[in-house]
Amino acid sequence: MKQPLVKIEGVYKDYQLPKKYLFQKAPVFRALHGINLELQQGTSFGIVGESGCGKSTLARIVMALDEPTSGTVFFDGQDLFNMPAAELKHLRRNFQMVFQDPYGSLNPRKNVMGIVAEPLDTLKEKLSFAQKKEYVAQILSEVGLNATDTDKFPHEFSGGQRQRIAIARALITRPSLIVADESVSALDVSVQAQVLNLMMDLQEKYNLTYMFISHDLSVVEYITDQVAVIYMGQIVEQGTTKALFQRPLHPYTQTLLRAVLDVNPLNKKQKNMPVIPEFEKTDESCPFLDRCNKATKTCADNAPELLENEGQLVACFNAE
Ligand SMILES: Nc1ncnc2c1ncn2[C@@H]1O[C@H](COP(=O)(O)OP(=O)(O)OP(=O)(O)O)[C@@H](O)[C@H]1O
Ligand SMILES: [Mg+2]
Repeated sequence: MKQPLVKIEGVYKDYQLPKKYLFQKAPVFRALHGINLELQQGTSFGIVGESGCGKSTLARIVMALDEPTSGTVFFDGQDLFNMPAAELKHLRRNFQMVFQDPYGSLNPRKNVMGIVAEPLDTLKEKLSFAQKKEYVAQILSEVGLNATDTDKFPHEFSGGQRQRIAIARALITRPSLIVADESVSALDVSVQAQVLNLMMDLQEKYNLTYMFISHDLSVVEYITDQVAVIYMGQIVEQGTTKALFQRPLHPYTQTLLRAVLDVNPLNKKQKNMPVIPEFEKTDESCPFLDRCNKATKTCADNAPELLENEGQLVACFNAE
């Protein structure tokens, strides 16, 4: 197999929390717990999991915006956290991020020209204003906006158009990796579909690699080739999108998928609620213990490893 474009290796991230008492040791919150992942060039990798599970933390580390506590990330074979700052600065043109909020992520005081052209300043070669203007016009038409929109400000666009501006900005340095963190979540469904289709067209045209983060499973199913399910900072299941959606093995993935199918809250009758066996949870227990209807004594005593199960990876003693 070819060298992966991105290789995430044993990434842990601890956040120091504020101390409650003066002489107390600062408590630590472990947001990521040993993440290993490989993204192949030209493919889309989905990251799913509930709010707070560590998706954006992982995205920031892959973008080298934040350092892992331990472990590292290789981009095209180069260790992002072990290279001179000047080199990392130039490497940044190859990976760009598109954020969720099409209102908050664009600087309201800058016009489209200023917003979209900004990443060009990281390039080694210095461009003239005329050259920049030409690049911006070209990329705007590729994302379905008008080349004449350069003088307008973000508030003059709709949500979908703003997201196109964010995509144009991400693409202007011709990156090979785009990390999209909930990038269509704030859009209504029809606009979401247009933006996703645009992203898929651009992927084909430029052989882009996507790391696609979303809590919306239907979006992930539509756009990704592979997917990893994260629960409390750990991957609990991973596989091809097709297999994982057809045959989810981990009880947590099954819960996530059931939640999508069961959109009518009136259907969730009390009698259908799964019964959760009660075991005492310790640091050694499976992280999903206290929410799992399949939990046994084994799960209370040990945390399962992520192991292969018919082509998928799953961390569960009772996977089926
Ligand atoms: N700077 C920080 N200091 C302390 N804790 C943090 C910090 N940043 C994130 N966290 C915690 O780490 C956990 C993971 O946060 P993260 O933003 O990665 O979640 P997420 O999966 O992206 O959630 P969402 O779906 O809501 O965007 C959360 O519990 C959050 O409170
Ligand atoms: Mg997030």
